[in-house]
Amino acid sequence: MIHKKSANSIIVASIVGLLFSIFALPSVFSKEYFTIKNGELVRPSGYREWIYVGAPLTPHDKNNGKANFPEFHSVYIDPESWEHWKKTGEFRDGTTLIKEMNLVGSTSAPSGEGYFMGRFVGLEATIKSKREFPNEPDNWAYFSFTVPPEHKSLKQTTKAEPTANCSACHEKSAKHDFVFTQYYPILEAAKADPHKAVGGVW
Ligand code: HEC
Repeated sequence: MIHKKSANSIIVASIVGLLFSIFALPSVFSKEYFTIKNGELVRPSGYREWIYVGAPLTPHDKNNGKANFPEFHSVYIDPESWEHWKKTGEFRDGTTLIKEMNLVGSTSAPSGEGYFMGRFVGLEATIKSKREFPNEPDNWAYFSFTVPPEHKSLKQTTKAEPTANCSACHEKSAKHDFVFTQYYPILEAAKADPHKAVGGVW
């Protein structure tokens, strides 16, 4: 016969064990920052309040007058994936990165000659999700909301790009898991280093 006291402690231990296993599985609670509807990605919003990681610039005048991705690329990562990156140095399942593009607006400012941001011209995203993109290389899918040739509006929803259009170059040349971290000093600094992640320390 099980003593009442030990039965109670078995129950308590089971509850503690259950809670522990739930909390030990971050994926159970991790938040997603993207929505797939009828097989298409809904244009994300709110990303300008995510974590900004870098701004590569491919000006037209250095690319035979027509850069493939014009011209400033502001790159953001969703907050939960940022938390994961700074703790582990890895991109979690569900990572969402946005690249928002602006033309060069002016080439001269009171600070000097250079490149200064002009109007918005494009929006792209990449998402890592085993559930949504089981057949994409390392589960990364690529999306473009940009409407060429005017680049004056954005699609409401968009299908994943064919793998060959985007993924191969990322796989071959990006430094970390399909992401060009070599051009994002903020991600490089934060990689598995919560102390440096916050800034004020180089
Ligand atoms: C020939 C190589 C190449 C191809 C093809 C390419 N990219 Fe990229 N992509 C880059 C480079 C290099 C960067 C980082 C530097 C920059 O933005 O110029 C980048 C950055 C990105 C980023 C920011 C996050 C990251 O992974 O670094 C997104 C989002 C992105 N690309 C989307 C796309 C989409 C969508 C396509 C297909 C339509 C595509 N890329 C095709 C080279 C490529």
